[in-house]
Amino acid sequence: MSLTGKTGVLGIFGDPVAHSLSPSMQNRALREAGIDAVYVPFQVPAGELARAVAALPALGIRGVNVTVPHKEAVVALLDEVDPAARRMGAVNTIVNRRGRLVGYNTDGTGFLKALAEDLHFSATDGRILLLGAGGACRAALVSLALAGAAWIGLANRTRARAEALAQEFDGAFADTRIEVLDLSGRALSAPLRQVDLLVNTTAVGLQGEQFDALPWDDLRPAAAVYDMVYRQNGTPLVKEALKRGHRAADGIGMLAGQGEEAFYLWFGQRPPAGMMARWLRQHLAE
Ligand code: ATR
Repeated sequence: MSLTGKTGVLGIFGDPVAHSLSPSMQNRALREAGIDAVYVPFQVPAGELARAVAALPALGIRGVNVTVPHKEAVVALLDEVDPAARRMGAVNTIVNRRGRLVGYNTDGTGFLKALAEDLHFSATDGRILLLGAGGACRAALVSLALAGAAWIGLANRTRARAEALAQEFDGAFADTRIEVLDLSGRALSAPLRQVDLLVNTTAVGLQGEQFDALPWDDLRPAAAVYDMVYRQNGTPLVKEALKRGHRAADGIGMLAGQGEEAFYLWFGQRPPAGMMARWLRQHLAE
């Protein structure tokens, strides 16, 4: 890759950012698509976020991804925010449109894309149980509700967080009923007999740990399982689900999906199909 005076610049704002897979993944996609641009990591401390965002138009940077801990704080710093991102209260992609900074959330669209591609799952009229109540859960909740889910259950270790989330969106989606459940075998057993999809939005499984509370025998055979976590040799949740004959997929599809959607917002074209997910799997295996 050779940089010239014409090379476009993109990047990612985060702190820390050194661990992010996005720079390698996006640069690989840019190369394969034959686009003259580079994607660089910017370690931006929280106290510098406003100045970093304000510098984007001055520097002619075409767009950036935004990651931990800036996804929520950045919303107030943009000229325009996509309605779904505004509902999530989080932006992970900024597009510089001739100096106007527009924010999107491709974690949500990437999630729906992963469900469609990896699990052939459509959220419309679906019944979905979400484990968790953090930022990832909020993005999932909003994107599933906007896609027309009929019922969303929230089960979180700290029940109060799930209640706060449910309350925040109470009545916000005409077609979607949101219900809070205890994260316990007893409380989950009846709902699991009704759901079409079970999603882990927490970090549980990253170190190989299991959700002890899950009454697996109650999960409908036709239900699919999505784990936002990914690991080299598969996550415990996905392994268990597959062993029991469920459709199941890990978080690689979502990570690739958010990257593909951001790429599309910046360039109006898609990276080669499946390339990002393949690169991520290969990278994990190394
Ligand atoms: P993110 O933005 O990635 O969603 P977060 O806002 O820190 O991260 O939320 C982390 C989620 O993982 C929370 O739902 C958390 O549960 P609590 O609200 O009870 O903290 C959940 N979580 C983390 N570790 C967990 C564990 N060992 N068992 C169950 N839930 C866990």
